[in-house]
Amino acid sequence: MGLVQGKAGIVTGAAGGIGRATAILYAKEGASVLVSDLESCRAGGEETVALIKAQGGRAVFVAADVAKAADAQKLVESCVSNFGALNFAFNNAGILAVGFTSEVEEDEFDRIMEVDVKGVWLCMKYQLRHMMKNGGGVIINTSSEGGLVGTPLAGPYVAAKHAVIGLTKTAAGEYANMNIRVNSIAPGTIATPMVLSLPQEAQQMLMAPQPLHRLGTPDEVAQGVVWLSSDRASFVTGITLSIDGGATSNAQSYDPSTSPSKLGV
Ligand SMILES: NC(=O)c1ccc[n+]([C@@H]2O[C@H](COP(=O)([O-])OP(=O)(O)OC[C@H]3O[C@@H](n4cnc5c(N)ncnc54)[C@H](O)[C@@H]3O)[C@@H](O)[C@H]2O)c1
Repeated sequence: MGLVQGKAGIVTGAAGGIGRATAILYAKEGASVLVSDLESCRAGGEETVALIKAQGGRAVFVAADVAKAADAQKLVESCVSNFGALNFAFNNAGILAVGFTSEVEEDEFDRIMEVDVKGVWLCMKYQLRHMMKNGGGVIINTSSEGGLVGTPLAGPYVAAKHAVIGLTKTAAGEYANMNIRVNSIAPGTIATPMVLSLPQEAQQMLMAPQPLHRLGTPDEVAQGVVWLSSDRASFVTGITLSIDGGATSNAQSYDPSTSPSKLGV
Protein backbone atom coordinates (compact mmCIF):
# COMPACT_ATOMS: atom_id res chain seq x y z
CA MET A 1 0.00 0.00 0.00
CA GLY A 2 1.31 3.42 -0.96
CA LEU A 3 1.06 6.40 1.39
CA VAL A 4 -1.75 7.94 -0.69
CA GLN A 5 -3.09 4.75 -2.26
CA GLY A 6 -6.34 5.21 -4.22
CA LYS A 7 -6.49 8.96 -3.69
CA ALA A 8 -6.57 11.70 -6.32
CA GLY A 9 -5.29 15.24 -6.33
CA ILE A 10 -3.87 18.30 -8.05
CA VAL A 11 -0.28 19.55 -8.29
CA THR A 12 0.24 23.07 -9.68
CA GLY A 13 3.56 24.22 -11.07
CA ALA A 14 4.27 20.60 -12.01
CA ALA A 15 6.10 21.09 -15.32
CA GLY A 16 9.41 20.76 -13.46
CA GLY A 17 11.20 21.28 -10.16
CA ILE A 18 9.44 20.60 -6.87
CA GLY A 19 6.03 20.19 -8.52
CA ARG A 20 7.22 17.49 -10.90
CA ALA A 21 9.09 15.57 -8.21
CA THR A 22 6.02 15.66 -5.97
CA ALA A 23 3.62 14.60 -8.73
CA ILE A 24 5.88 11.64 -9.45
CA LEU A 25 6.09 10.66 -5.78
CA TYR A 26 2.31 10.99 -5.28
CA ALA A 27 1.83 8.58 -8.20
CA LYS A 28 4.50 6.20 -6.89
CA GLU A 29 2.64 6.19 -3.55
CA GLY A 30 -0.60 5.16 -5.26
CA ALA A 31 -2.43 8.38 -6.17
CA SER A 32 -3.87 9.64 -9.46
CA VAL A 33 -2.42 13.05 -10.25
CA LEU A 34 -3.73 16.04 -12.14
CA VAL A 35 -0.50 17.67 -13.31
CA SER A 36 -0.93 21.38 -13.99
CA ASP A 37 1.14 24.32 -15.18
CA LEU A 38 0.86 27.26 -17.56
CA GLU A 39 -0.09 26.55 -21.18
CA SER A 40 3.37 27.87 -22.12
CA CYS A 41 4.86 25.02 -20.04
CA ARG A 42 2.68 22.28 -21.58
CA ALA A 43 5.70 20.34 -22.88
CA GLY A 44 7.18 20.09 -19.38
CA GLY A 45 3.80 19.17 -17.90
CA GLU A 46 3.25 16.44 -20.47
CA GLU A 47 6.74 15.14 -19.76
CA THR A 48 5.82 14.87 -16.07
CA VAL A 49 2.72 12.87 -17.07
CA ALA A 50 4.84 10.62 -19.30
CA LEU A 51 7.31 10.00 -16.44
CA ILE A 52 4.40 9.00 -14.17
CA LYS A 53 2.88 6.72 -16.79
CA ALA A 54 6.26 5.12 -17.43
CA GLN A 55 6.34 3.99 -13.80
CA GLY A 56 2.78 2.60 -14.13
CA GLY A 57 0.98 5.56 -12.55
CA ARG A 58 -2.11 7.53 -13.53
CA ALA A 59 -1.90 11.23 -14.51
CA VAL A 60 -3.29 13.87 -16.86
CA PHE A 61 -2.04 17.33 -17.76
CA VAL A 62 -4.37 20.32 -17.56
CA ALA A 63 -3.07 23.79 -18.41
CA ALA A 64 -4.05 26.53 -15.96
CA ASP A 65 -2.93 29.94 -14.79
CA VAL A 66 -3.45 29.82 -11.02
CA ALA A 67 -3.94 33.60 -10.93
CA LYS A 68 -7.21 33.21 -12.87
CA ALA A 69 -10.32 32.20 -10.94
CA ALA A 70 -11.85 30.29 -13.87
CA ASP A 71 -8.66 28.22 -14.22
CA ALA A 72 -8.46 27.46 -10.49
CA GLN A 73 -12.08 26.26 -10.61
CA LYS A 74 -11.40 24.22 -13.77
CA LEU A 75 -8.62 22.31 -12.00
CA VAL A 76 -11.03 21.04 -9.34
CA GLU A 77 -13.63 20.05 -11.94
CA SER A 78 -11.02 18.31 -14.11
CA CYS A 79 -9.63 16.33 -11.19
CA VAL A 80 -13.10 15.10 -10.28
CA SER A 81 -14.09 14.34 -13.88
CA ASN A 82 -10.84 12.47 -14.59
CA PHE A 83 -10.40 10.60 -11.34
CA GLY A 84 -13.76 10.77 -9.53
CA ALA A 85 -12.44 12.63 -6.49
CA LEU A 86 -10.29 15.44 -5.13
CA ASN A 87 -8.60 14.19 -1.98
CA PHE A 88 -5.52 16.43 -1.90
CA ALA A 89 -4.07 19.49 -3.56
CA PHE A 90 -0.51 20.79 -3.65
CA ASN A 91 -0.64 24.51 -4.47
CA ASN A 92 2.94 24.88 -5.53
CA ALA A 93 3.07 27.22 -8.56
CA GLY A 94 5.15 30.28 -7.82
CA ILE A 95 7.48 32.88 -9.26
CA LEU A 96 10.48 34.80 -7.96
CA ALA A 97 11.75 38.31 -8.73
CA VAL A 98 15.20 39.41 -7.62
CA GLY A 99 16.07 42.96 -6.59
CA PHE A 100 16.60 45.22 -3.60
CA THR A 101 13.41 46.62 -2.08
CA SER A 102 14.15 50.09 -3.45
CA GLU A 103 14.82 48.74 -6.93
CA VAL A 104 11.96 46.32 -7.64
CA GLU A 105 9.48 47.59 -10.23
CA GLU A 106 5.82 47.97 -9.34
CA ASP A 107 4.66 45.55 -12.03
CA GLU A 108 7.05 42.88 -10.69
CA PHE A 109 5.61 43.35 -7.20
CA ASP A 110 2.07 43.04 -8.55
CA ARG A 111 2.83 39.92 -10.58
CA ILE A 112 4.44 38.17 -7.56
CA MET A 113 1.37 38.93 -5.44
CA GLU A 114 -0.93 37.80 -8.22
CA VAL A 115 0.71 34.39 -8.67
CA ASP A 116 2.23 33.59 -5.26
CA VAL A 117 -0.57 34.92 -3.03
CA LYS A 118 -3.75 35.30 -5.07
CA GLY A 119 -3.00 32.11 -7.01
CA VAL A 120 -2.73 30.07 -3.80
CA TRP A 121 -5.87 31.69 -2.36
CA LEU A 122 -7.90 31.10 -5.54
CA CYS A 123 -6.86 27.45 -5.74
CA MET A 124 -7.70 26.93 -2.05
CA LYS A 125 -11.06 28.66 -2.47
CA TYR A 126 -12.37 26.17 -5.03
CA GLN A 127 -10.64 23.17 -3.48
CA LEU A 128 -12.19 23.98 -0.09
CA ARG A 129 -15.65 24.39 -1.60
CA HIS A 130 -15.38 20.91 -3.07
CA MET A 131 -13.82 19.29 -0.01
CA MET A 132 -16.45 20.79 2.32
CA LYS A 133 -19.19 19.02 0.38
CA ASN A 134 -17.32 15.77 -0.13
CA GLY A 135 -16.12 14.62 3.25
CA GLY A 136 -12.84 16.53 3.54
CA GLY A 137 -9.35 16.53 2.09
CA VAL A 138 -5.83 17.82 2.48
CA ILE A 139 -4.24 20.99 1.10
CA ILE A 140 -0.53 21.79 1.08
CA ASN A 141 0.71 25.22 0.00
CA THR A 142 4.25 26.03 -1.00
CA SER A 143 5.67 28.84 1.07
CA SER A 144 9.44 29.15 1.46
CA GLU A 145 12.27 29.69 3.90
CA GLY A 146 11.56 33.27 2.79
CA GLY A 147 8.08 32.86 4.27
CA LEU A 148 9.66 32.62 7.73
CA VAL A 149 12.65 34.97 7.64
CA GLY A 150 13.82 37.94 5.59
CA THR A 151 15.96 37.29 2.51
CA PRO A 152 18.04 40.00 0.82
CA LEU A 153 17.03 40.85 -2.76
CA ALA A 154 13.63 39.18 -2.48
CA GLY A 155 11.30 41.62 -0.72
CA PRO A 156 8.06 41.02 -2.66
CA TYR A 157 8.67 37.26 -2.78
CA VAL A 158 9.32 37.15 0.98
CA ALA A 159 6.14 39.16 1.61
CA ALA A 160 4.16 36.82 -0.65
CA LYS A 161 5.51 33.68 1.01
CA HIS A 162 4.73 35.08 4.49
CA ALA A 163 1.19 35.64 3.21
CA VAL A 164 0.92 32.00 2.11
CA ILE A 165 1.58 30.95 5.71
CA GLY A 166 -1.14 33.32 6.93
CA LEU A 167 -3.65 31.91 4.46
CA THR A 168 -2.67 28.38 5.48
CA LYS A 169 -3.04 28.92 9.23
CA THR A 170 -6.38 30.67 8.83
CA ALA A 171 -7.91 28.03 6.58
CA ALA A 172 -6.57 25.26 8.85
CA GLY A 173 -8.59 26.70 11.72
CA GLU A 174 -11.68 27.49 9.67
CA TYR A 175 -12.12 24.04 8.14
CA ALA A 176 -10.64 21.73 10.79
CA ASN A 177 -14.03 20.46 11.88
CA MET A 178 -14.86 19.51 8.28
CA ASN A 179 -12.08 16.93 8.04
CA ILE A 180 -9.90 19.29 6.00
CA ARG A 181 -6.23 19.71 6.91
CA VAL A 182 -4.25 22.63 5.52
CA ASN A 183 -0.47 22.89 5.87
CA SER A 184 2.38 24.64 4.13
CA ILE A 185 5.97 23.75 3.38
CA ALA A 186 8.96 26.06 3.56
CA PRO A 187 11.75 24.76 1.33
CA GLY A 188 15.24 26.16 1.65
CA THR A 189 17.41 26.45 -1.45
CA ILE A 190 16.49 23.55 -3.72
CA ALA A 191 18.11 22.53 -7.01
CA THR A 192 15.28 23.44 -9.39
CA PRO A 193 15.14 25.62 -12.53
CA MET A 194 14.11 28.58 -10.32
CA VAL A 195 17.43 28.41 -8.43
CA LEU A 196 19.72 26.89 -11.07
CA SER A 197 18.84 29.78 -13.42
CA LEU A 198 20.34 32.27 -10.92
CA PRO A 199 24.04 33.28 -11.15
CA GLN A 200 26.42 31.03 -9.14
CA GLU A 201 27.04 33.88 -6.67
CA ALA A 202 23.34 34.19 -5.90
CA GLN A 203 23.02 30.41 -5.47
CA GLN A 204 25.93 30.42 -3.00
CA MET A 205 24.40 33.32 -1.09
CA LEU A 206 21.06 31.54 -0.81
CA MET A 207 22.72 28.30 0.27
CA ALA A 208 25.00 29.93 2.86
CA PRO A 209 22.57 29.74 5.82
CA GLN A 210 22.01 25.97 5.36
CA PRO A 211 24.12 23.96 7.86
CA LEU A 212 23.69 20.85 5.70
CA HIS A 213 25.61 22.97 3.22
CA ARG A 214 24.30 21.80 -0.12
CA LEU A 215 21.28 22.45 -2.29
CA GLY A 216 18.25 20.37 -1.35
CA THR A 217 16.74 18.11 -3.99
CA PRO A 218 13.16 18.36 -5.29
CA ASP A 219 12.58 14.80 -4.09
CA GLU A 220 13.55 15.73 -0.52
CA VAL A 221 10.79 18.34 -0.61
CA ALA A 222 8.33 15.92 -2.22
CA GLN A 223 8.84 13.44 0.64
CA GLY A 224 7.54 16.02 3.12
CA VAL A 225 4.58 17.02 0.95
CA VAL A 226 3.40 13.46 0.37
CA TRP A 227 3.72 12.67 4.07
CA LEU A 228 1.63 15.73 4.95
CA SER A 229 -0.96 14.59 2.39
CA SER A 230 -1.17 11.11 3.85
CA ASP A 231 -3.11 9.73 6.81
CA ARG A 232 0.23 9.39 8.63
CA ALA A 233 -0.09 13.15 9.24
CA SER A 234 -3.72 12.90 10.41
CA PHE A 235 -3.15 15.12 13.50
CA VAL A 236 -1.11 17.74 11.64
CA THR A 237 -2.80 20.93 10.47
CA GLY A 238 -1.86 24.61 10.28
CA ILE A 239 1.89 23.98 10.37
CA THR A 240 4.69 25.10 8.12
CA LEU A 241 7.11 22.26 7.54
CA SER A 242 10.63 23.58 6.98
CA ILE A 243 12.65 21.49 4.53
CA ASP A 244 15.68 23.73 4.45
CA GLY A 245 18.85 21.96 5.57
CA GLY A 246 18.60 23.71 8.94
CA ALA A 247 18.59 27.24 7.51
CA THR A 248 15.81 28.76 9.61
CA SER A 249 17.14 27.24 12.83
CA ASN A 250 20.33 29.32 12.57
CA ALA A 251 20.52 33.04 13.22
CA GLN A 252 23.59 33.60 11.07
CA SER A 253 24.94 32.25 7.81
CA TYR A 254 26.57 28.91 8.41
CA ASP A 255 30.34 28.89 8.12
CA PRO A 256 31.72 25.33 7.71
CA SER A 257 35.14 26.48 8.98
CA THR A 258 33.58 26.89 12.44
CA SER A 259 32.34 23.28 12.51
CA PRO A 260 33.76 21.08 15.33
CA SER A 261 35.06 18.80 12.57
CA LYS A 262 37.31 21.60 11.26
CA LEU A 263 38.36 22.89 14.69
CA GLY A 264 39.47 19.44 15.84
CA VAL A 265 36.97 19.37 18.73
N1 LIG B 1 13.71 26.15 -5.55
C1 LIG B 1 13.77 26.68 -4.36
O1 LIG B 1 14.85 26.84 -3.78
C2 LIG B 1 12.51 27.09 -3.64
C3 LIG B 1 12.64 27.45 -2.29
C4 LIG B 1 11.50 27.82 -1.60
C5 LIG B 1 10.27 27.82 -2.24
N2 LIG B 1 10.19 27.48 -3.56
C6 LIG B 1 8.86 27.49 -4.16
O2 LIG B 1 8.61 26.23 -4.70
C7 LIG B 1 7.63 26.33 -5.73
C8 LIG B 1 8.12 25.55 -6.93
O3 LIG B 1 9.28 26.19 -7.43
P1 LIG B 1 10.49 25.42 -8.11
O4 LIG B 1 11.68 25.75 -7.32
O5 LIG B 1 10.14 24.01 -8.38
O6 LIG B 1 10.67 26.27 -9.44
P2 LIG B 1 10.08 26.09 -10.91
O7 LIG B 1 10.26 27.43 -11.53
O8 LIG B 1 10.65 24.89 -11.54
O9 LIG B 1 8.52 25.79 -10.65
C9 LIG B 1 7.54 26.77 -10.59
C10 LIG B 1 6.46 26.39 -11.57
O10 LIG B 1 5.34 27.27 -11.40
C11 LIG B 1 4.82 27.54 -12.69
N3 LIG B 1 4.04 28.77 -12.70
C12 LIG B 1 4.50 30.04 -12.64
N4 LIG B 1 3.48 30.91 -12.70
C13 LIG B 1 2.35 30.16 -12.81
C14 LIG B 1 0.98 30.48 -12.93
N5 LIG B 1 0.55 31.75 -12.94
N6 LIG B 1 0.07 29.45 -13.02
C15 LIG B 1 0.50 28.17 -13.00
N7 LIG B 1 1.79 27.81 -12.91
C16 LIG B 1 2.70 28.79 -12.81
C17 LIG B 1 6.06 27.64 -13.57
O11 LIG B 1 5.73 27.50 -14.94
C18 LIG B 1 6.93 26.53 -13.02
O12 LIG B 1 6.75 25.31 -13.70
C19 LIG B 1 7.43 27.83 -5.96
O13 LIG B 1 6.27 28.27 -5.30
C20 LIG B 1 8.66 28.44 -5.32
O14 LIG B 1 8.45 29.76 -4.91
C21 LIG B 1 11.28 27.12 -4.26
